Amino acid sequence: MKHIIAFAGSNSKNSINKHLAIYASGLVEGVAIDILDLNDFDLPLYGIDLENEKGIPEDAHKFLNLIKTSNGIVLSLAEHNGAYSTAFKNLFDWMSRIEGKTFFGKPMLLMATSPGGRGGASVLQIAEDRFPRHNANIVEVFSLPNFGTSFSEGKIVNPELDAELKNKVERFQSEL
Ligand SMILES: Cc1cc2nc3c(=O)[nH]c(=O)nc-3n(C[C@H](O)[C@H](O)[C@H](O)COP(=O)(O)O)c2cc1C
Repeated sequence: MKHIIAFAGSNSKNSINKHLAIYASGLVEGVAIDILDLNDFDLPLYGIDLENEKGIPEDAHKFLNLIKTSNGIVLSLAEHNGAYSTAFKNLFDWMSRIEGKTFFGKPMLLMATSPGGRGGASVLQIAEDRFPRHNANIVEVFSLPNFGTSFSEGKIVNPELDAELKNKVERFQSEL
């Protein structure tokens, strides 16, 4: 059976992006789903001196290997000051030191959500520009604005946005 990984670009215990990643990945049919949490990976703040002194942490290898051995990636990015959260950027930086082709061409459903009306548009723009340089195969991009009113009890409650996501999940699924 094919399997996908789903995770949020956040280290919040109650991450809204994790909620969205869980919902979206659950819409993919006939695959095993591995929900990952950045809190389970012990990664000190990246620095070239630390890398030279201690090498690359085992958990960066572990996460990269989870990407490498998956059939697809569902990722929902938190937006902090218009960019990646520190936790995600730190993981990305460590992994990129092991393998520049960080995403191994795996089909990716790229998403973001935020409490505001822009739905993480800025971080999505950054990722859409940058990830392909790391061999990302971004199949679809989805933004969920106004998380507080758009999402409830594990589901998107805005019918138009829910239909949009379901269409995008179908396309993602067809690429796996
Ligand atoms: C330091 C910081 C910066 C933020 N900057 C933005 C921002 O630029 N745009 C935005 O839409 N939300 C911003 N927010 C609000 C986040 O979207 C919100 O905290 C959201 O819950 C983060 O996603 P998460 O719950 O998956 O971690 C910011 C929050 C923090 C703590």
